[in-house]
Amino acid sequence: MIDSQQEIATGDLPRGLLDISDAQVDPLLARILLVDDDYAIIRMMTRMLRAHGYRKPTFTTDPRDVSELCRRYEFDLILLDLSMPHMDGVQLIEQLRAEFGVDLAPVLVVTAQVDHGLRLRALGVGASDYVTKPFQFDELLARAGNLIRMHMYQHAMRVRNRSLEELVNERTEELVRSRQEIRELAAHNELVREAERARIAREIHDELGQYLTALSLDVSILEMRFCASVPALAEQVESMRRLVDRTISIVRTVASQMRPATMNLGLEAATEWLVSEFISRTGIACTLKLPAAGIQLNDERATAVFRIIQESFTNVMRHAAARHVDVSLRVEAGFLVVQVRDDGRGFEECTVSGKKSFGLMGIRERAIILGGEAQVHSVPGQGTVVEARIPCQEKGGEASRESEPDFERVAIAACERQNP
Ligand SMILES: Nc1ncnc2c1ncn2[C@@H]1O[C@H](COP(=O)(O)OP(=O)(O)OP(=O)(O)O)[C@@H](O)[C@H]1O
Ligand SMILES: [Mg+2]
Repeated sequence: MIDSQQEIATGDLPRGLLDISDAQVDPLLARILLVDDDYAIIRMMTRMLRAHGYRKPTFTTDPRDVSELCRRYEFDLILLDLSMPHMDGVQLIEQLRAEFGVDLAPVLVVTAQVDHGLRLRALGVGASDYVTKPFQFDELLARAGNLIRMHMYQHAMRVRNRSLEELVNERTEELVRSRQEIRELAAHNELVREAERARIAREIHDELGQYLTALSLDVSILEMRFCASVPALAEQVESMRRLVDRTISIVRTVASQMRPATMNLGLEAATEWLVSEFISRTGIACTLKLPAAGIQLNDERATAVFRIIQESFTNVMRHAAARHVDVSLRVEAGFLVVQVRDDGRGFEECTVSGKKSFGLMGIRERAIILGGEAQVHSVPGQGTVVEARIPCQEKGGEASRESEPDFERVAIAACERQNP
């Protein structure tokens, strides 16, 4: 089980990205710098190192050259004498640490027994280890080998981390790009869908509406001409009239649900219609606050806001068991803030994520597509608030005033008629 998960997690990474091969940490390939003012010691150590297979020993007898050498080559180990003219080993380590920081190769100091204080200071400023003169060469080799291996591992890890970071950045960019493309596609589909809805709504309204009106007229003529003389017909004609009226009303509702005609009068009119529809359908009390200064939104944005409120209402109807709903639209710093608040049963936000439900996701996506954002806050037992912020302009650029109380009264009155 764990194996297969790992396979999934690392399956499409470039081969070898997670492995550090032996070749990457072969100590014999290490570049070693010897720093000692005593040339005899340098010669002896170089010869011994070569004899043990180390291919790249480099040396200098002047500590002042070390910085430049480190800039030019990437060393895996510096073998450093502590007592030297011009600059002692401690000063040199301090200088190198200041310049190269963590990229500095490990420093193995070679000191005389008497240099105890100096040795401690060298360790204090960052020397990795020491051997005391006169030293056993095999001990020096063993300590050097350990430090080289550790450094090579660290280096390989740094390289690997950099590659992983690059890969993660690359994949993140791909992901962001593909999410953006999906959003753009969704936005395009939404526009097409709305246009199609508007077309169907128009056709239903105009074509079917015309025929039904003609039918209704014919029923009236029938009634006028024959019902007085043939009383048995009256009941049948009355039934036809009821049927025609009901059909007209259904056609109007279907067309309005596709795209309310009031949408052509602007978002405010459409929202008022939506609220009164919601009240008469559910009997739930609902208030609406609109900015007195009006709202300036193009059709695409207005339709999106309308759909957000519509989806919130659908959720209230399906899930909330609410007694009150408050809808408010206000303009704030160039954004239209739409809020639908209910006092229903609420829900645990964490239980919803991951569920195959698209209403809340659609609300969020609609807002993001338009350069805004949407949030849903809900507490079990304390209701739900859906809030979307959509970039907009106010009509005439004026600041909005609080509310339009007249409309609030209309909405509540409509509810009261439903629930005497
Ligand atoms: N106003 C609300 N009151 C209580 N619970 C809600 C409310 N709105 C959403 N929820 C909870 O959040 C869940 C997700 O809502 P969402 O609208 O995303 O999906 P849905 O309504 O279940 O299905 P659909 O995809 O058809 O909209 C709901 O199943 C419900 O549990
Ligand atoms: Mg829903």
